[in-house]
Amino acid sequence: MAGLSLRRTRLAAATRELVREVDLDPRKLIQPLFVVEGLAAREPVPGLSDVWRDTPESLARQVEADLAAGVDKFLLFGVPETRREQSFDHGFTVAQIEVLRRRFGSGIWLAADICLCAATSHGHCGLLNEARDHVDNGASVAALVDYALACATAGVDCVAPSDMMDGRIGAIRTALQAAGLGRTLLMSYAAKFHSAFYGPFRLAADSAPAAGGALQDRASYQIDPARPTDARRSAQRDADEGADILMVKPGLPCLDVLRDLSASIPLPWAAYQTSGEQAALDLLAANGLGDAARLQRETWIALRRAGADMIISYAARRARTLLA
Ligand code: PBG
Ligand code: ZN
Repeated sequence: MAGLSLRRTRLAAATRELVREVDLDPRKLIQPLFVVEGLAAREPVPGLSDVWRDTPESLARQVEADLAAGVDKFLLFGVPETRREQSFDHGFTVAQIEVLRRRFGSGIWLAADICLCAATSHGHCGLLNEARDHVDNGASVAALVDYALACATAGVDCVAPSDMMDGRIGAIRTALQAAGLGRTLLMSYAAKFHSAFYGPFRLAADSAPAAGGALQDRASYQIDPARPTDARRSAQRDADEGADILMVKPGLPCLDVLRDLSASIPLPWAAYQTSGEQAALDLLAANGLGDAARLQRETWIALRRAGADMIISYAARRARTLLA
């Protein structure tokens, strides 16, 4: 048998389109949004192309532009002006959700990131104990439940806890049910690793941890990348506690985990292509070292191939251009 074998289906563009197993569709993408209290004008997020720390006014305009670009699914991060140790005031973020809902109705799918690191004075994802040497799990879960209830009441389609405290999914699900909010989706950052690929986000949400002492980073609650078994335990637990959607984060560094877990736990899976991952692509393209569209497509395909049903991506709003 002479000649071509595997190459035959690669010869023509039309054939390549027909044999493709993984499709990229802007409808599978979720665009993160940051809305910051007390900003005079919106600011770019360092390292990311066309991603902003929005004011309430610029947020609505951004969502309009995104809808016009074919993006209608969002993950909102609210950044309040006042930082506290406890007794958080969620009024600012709640008001932004209410405004978006009034203005866009069911024309947008809106999730709220549920965490405390943009609200605490020390930037940790939960409350500290009295000695300030430990993130207190019980007190943190109680505060996360409050925030999730406030966002759900304000009308988000989905609450997405990103804190990594133990037991928060069950606690939030129970509280939503008791409050008559049983239709609110719960997306768990279940397999969230302690990663160095969150850099631009920390600037965007002003959430770098700085409690001093033993608490300089998030290693005491996020999963160690060298401990994939914990991602499995975390995902299984969150599924059992009532999550509707599970997430792996970051994306490319965790393709193996996404592959394993999505094949074994039959819930919808999200991949979070994080701020550091996006910055790496944007920097390659900006320096003439890679083609923006090809870089983006290849990474989105890899995430879909590994089992992601949906992708949270800072480049969602550029998808039409990148996928053209
Ligand atoms: C906060 C949160 C983080 C991200 C989403 N929610 C940062 C962190 O855990 O430090 C990461 C997003 C990104 O880098 O794009 N809990
Ligand atoms: Zn956090």
